[in-house]
Amino acid sequence: MQDNHEEYPEEFVAGLEWMWGDGFMSPGGPAEVGAILEGIDLTGQRVLDIGCGIGGIDVLLAKEHNAAHVTGIDVEPYLVERAQTLVTQAGLNHKINIQLTKPGALPFDDDSFDIVFSKDSIIHIPDKRAIYSDIFRVLKPGGRLAFSDWYGSDLPQTPEFKEWLVVVGLTFDMGTVESAAKLLGDIGFTDIELEDRNSWYAKNMEEELATLQGENFTKLADQLGEDGATQRLNSSTLKKTVVDQGLLRPGHIRATKPTLF
Ligand SMILES: C[S@@+](CC[C@H](N)C(=O)[O-])C[C@H]1O[C@@H](n2cnc3c(N)ncnc32)[C@H](O)[C@@H]1O
Repeated sequence: MQDNHEEYPEEFVAGLEWMWGDGFMSPGGPAEVGAILEGIDLTGQRVLDIGCGIGGIDVLLAKEHNAAHVTGIDVEPYLVERAQTLVTQAGLNHKINIQLTKPGALPFDDDSFDIVFSKDSIIHIPDKRAIYSDIFRVLKPGGRLAFSDWYGSDLPQTPEFKEWLVVVGLTFDMGTVESAAKLLGDIGFTDIELEDRNSWYAKNMEEELATLQGENFTKLADQLGEDGATQRLNSSTLKKTVVDQGLLRPGHIRATKPTLF
């Protein structure tokens, strides 16, 4: 996925929300956000959400998970505008701050957040060591990192996988969830927990494809046009193949910044 800041135009986002629910640009909805945060209580915590997209998750973190304050950052102006509108509509401007940022260093002081959260966004940041180190820096000692991301595997690449990489514009190695966890450990994180979500997503893909077929396809085509809906269906069909081949594997990671920092 290239870093051109126009990767998620309006029509594309509409297709993602169609599959995954209003306000969400990644799969699983509130239940998957809850699974990422398993064992972490956000009550009274200051949270940073990296790659907040259109803000559905930030509203959820403030409203349902009782975060004291959420800062959602994203690099795309259209998404930030949508997120801001959603926050205002939810009456949560006092609890959620949406910020347009530039790729690169996080624009926050050291030890600013209790929790750093992210869902399916770090894949866009090629320099993992830099972003994980910066997350470590902005977390308070004892703070928790909880995120999900798209990972690859060590299996040989199939023609379908290579085609899927082209369709989604991925130009760099996703790495594995294990390599991400190792890097976090090298940086200084402790209590690292990881979870491979490939089998969960393989099941979820059935539901995702159902939102794009039959009557649903016709409804989506009314919204996006025939070409837009066909593109969405083709992309998800190809993705199901690479998920079933075990080459695309969503994963969750939780880790702690030790207190002696
Ligand atoms: C798949 S979307 C996920 C959005 C949201 N987390 C969700 O699950 O609904 C990935 C997001 O990462 C954002 N993004 C890409 N590069 C980024 C960067 N360097 N810093 C912050 N966000 C970034 C994209 O603009 C996009 O909103």
